[in-house]
Amino acid sequence: MKRIAVLTSGGDAPGMNANVRAVVRTGRHFGLEVFGVIGGYAGLIEGKFITLDTPQTANIIAKGGTILKTSRSKEFMQPGGRMAAINKLKNAGIEALVACGGDGTFRGAHALWLEHKFPIVGTPGTIDNDLFGTDYTIGYDTAINTCAEAIDKIRDTAESHGRVFIIEVMGRHAGFIAMDVGVSCGAEFIAVPETVTNTDILYQRILENGKNKRTIVIVGEGDELGDAQQLSLLLKEKYDISSHVTILGHIQRGGSPTVRDRVLASRLGVEAVKALLNGKTDVMVGEINHQIVYTPFEETWMRRKPLREYLIELSDILV
Ligand code: F6P
Repeated sequence: MKRIAVLTSGGDAPGMNANVRAVVRTGRHFGLEVFGVIGGYAGLIEGKFITLDTPQTANIIAKGGTILKTSRSKEFMQPGGRMAAINKLKNAGIEALVACGGDGTFRGAHALWLEHKFPIVGTPGTIDNDLFGTDYTIGYDTAINTCAEAIDKIRDTAESHGRVFIIEVMGRHAGFIAMDVGVSCGAEFIAVPETVTNTDILYQRILENGKNKRTIVIVGEGDELGDAQQLSLLLKEKYDISSHVTILGHIQRGGSPTVRDRVLASRLGVEAVKALLNGKTDVMVGEINHQIVYTPFEETWMRRKPLREYLIELSDILV
């Protein structure tokens, strides 16, 4: 193997640049030529390759976003799109790929392997932490710290006014962000998709907390009762409780990665290249209990990573 490429795909996540940097420098370390694909799978279809070496990856380890840009390519989800991508890869003499992203990225990667037997290894890059096969995904630690910083500020005003705040965090169909953030911010109630949200308990907690006292409620965006706005309406209609809604939104995806994310991204980038050189393909490289683990792409989205039970217990005991 002489030439590999790296791309970032799906929702960006802090630490993707550190991951790209590690892939490039590891490739060079082992004597490979490394290309970057601009714009994720959409860029792959168009053959947007750039040469990457140590100078191009200098001073990016602390940068949020992704210098390679990203996309959610519908075209790549079709066989025709993947065929076009393979032709571009072959024309450029690229023999293997590292793809950093979430489940959508890995679905595309798996299809590319199945149809064209093109060697491809994934690194988990998503703030959602919803991939089976790794304790943490790249970007998650930064996102939860961003949330905590914002919620601490909301708490100040909630406390001063004695208000109920319903704060929505990202996570798509998974409650990892909501759970960690809720516990770390001392929330009175946490609603996540993985557990049944009981608004009677929430109402009780608001009452126990005392009328006109600050109450912080964290809602994971995929909760079965709906989003923060819907929960706020329900509280009003069912219990006559007024609340303020804050949707943290895309600030969760930006910012300089934390040390944990930089180290995780660096390690997984190094291991992804080593995996390709060792003939591995169709797998995500993850870290479980500090050990490197290779999980078949299909399992990363088909097997559900459970929420850590102790967090659910903590959130109940520590209200
Ligand atoms: O997967 C990362 C994520 O930020 C989810 O938490 C969120 O549901 C989604 O992406 C938002 O995607 P977009 O930025 O494309 O609207």
